[in-house]
Amino acid sequence: MGEIEKNGYPHYMLKEIYEQPEVIKQTLKGRLIPGSEKIVLDDIRLTQRDLDGVYRMVIVACGTSYHAGLAGKYLIERLAGIPVEVEIASEFRYRNPAVDKNSLVIVISQSGETADTLESMRKAKGKGVRAFAITNVAGSTIPSEADYSLYTCAGPEISVASTKAYTSQLTAIYLIALKLAYLKGGIDKDAYRQRVEAVNRLPGQAQRVLDCSQLMKDLAGEHKDIEKVVYLGRGLDYALALEGSLKLKETCYIHSAAYPAGEFRHGPIALVEEGLFVFLLATQDALIDKTLANLKEVKNRGAYVVALAKEGNREIGKLADRVIYIPDTLDEFTSVLAVIPLQLFAYYSAVARGRNVDKPRSLVKSVSD
Ligand code: G6P
Repeated sequence: MGEIEKNGYPHYMLKEIYEQPEVIKQTLKGRLIPGSEKIVLDDIRLTQRDLDGVYRMVIVACGTSYHAGLAGKYLIERLAGIPVEVEIASEFRYRNPAVDKNSLVIVISQSGETADTLESMRKAKGKGVRAFAITNVAGSTIPSEADYSLYTCAGPEISVASTKAYTSQLTAIYLIALKLAYLKGGIDKDAYRQRVEAVNRLPGQAQRVLDCSQLMKDLAGEHKDIEKVVYLGRGLDYALALEGSLKLKETCYIHSAAYPAGEFRHGPIALVEEGLFVFLLATQDALIDKTLANLKEVKNRGAYVVALAKEGNREIGKLADRVIYIPDTLDEFTSVLAVIPLQLFAYYSAVARGRNVDKPRSLVKSVSD
């Protein structure tokens, strides 16, 4: 691909990060109609009858798609009340998973070709389980073999480190969770309507988050010599922490780890020493007191803490070294906004270290057998 396709951006990764508000919009387009409460997922043809007898869901994926799946678990369980497990495809594929016709398997794959994910789907189908694919590439193998499929509308993703595909997967999951909640009667009408409105606001809010780009560039530049980073979060923020940490590993080749903030004290807190760089993800109002307690714990041990929080959270500004604010939205939908500063941090850190941003060493876009 030539320079022209980069539209003036120095790398595909940055271009794709900036495309995210439009990608979210495209994934919602025609499916979530502004002013109406209905979610139209005609392309999937998933009806109430299909869901009768489905008592459990298993989401199977790899890499960044797996992290979108973890968010899916929180969302589907919270909104639709259906139990969901999330499995790494390379594990699911080689064991004897206890799935049956009362399960629905959701496979998530940007490329639609990842071998472990494809073979996991085949394994589940071989046991009589119906498969629902969330993919980005029309005509790829996974959706063509699935029973139901939903396309994300991220467009071609060139950078090996996935950014816009992830936000489009999250957006698709928001729609699916809401649709399931609607079909299953999992939430009352007002709560449902409030959530539909919140999702409709996300493209505009994502655009605003991009304003933090210079801040993330400065932060990455100031810390370009750090050798490890810890990401902490609770609930959906834990799923997001995993994705933030993966982005940094992929693009910078430095060690980073993500922990559920509450579990951190069961061992990993021993890692904290003067100056350890910690990203504290604090976008969940329902868990904020607990998360602030974790912040104090690591600050007291000398960590340098960059927090990510919703606008209006004053308390956190008094405790963290730096705070990055995202626009206010319901707890369920913060990840699609909060991932953007984390992506930008990984991107600018890679640039500051002179890494091969779009093609990191040893990585490929789609892993075949
Ligand atoms: C590779 C890519 C990742 C991607 C993963 C799963 O490891 O480098 O960016 O998340 O595969 O790919 P898929 O196409 O199945 O989402």
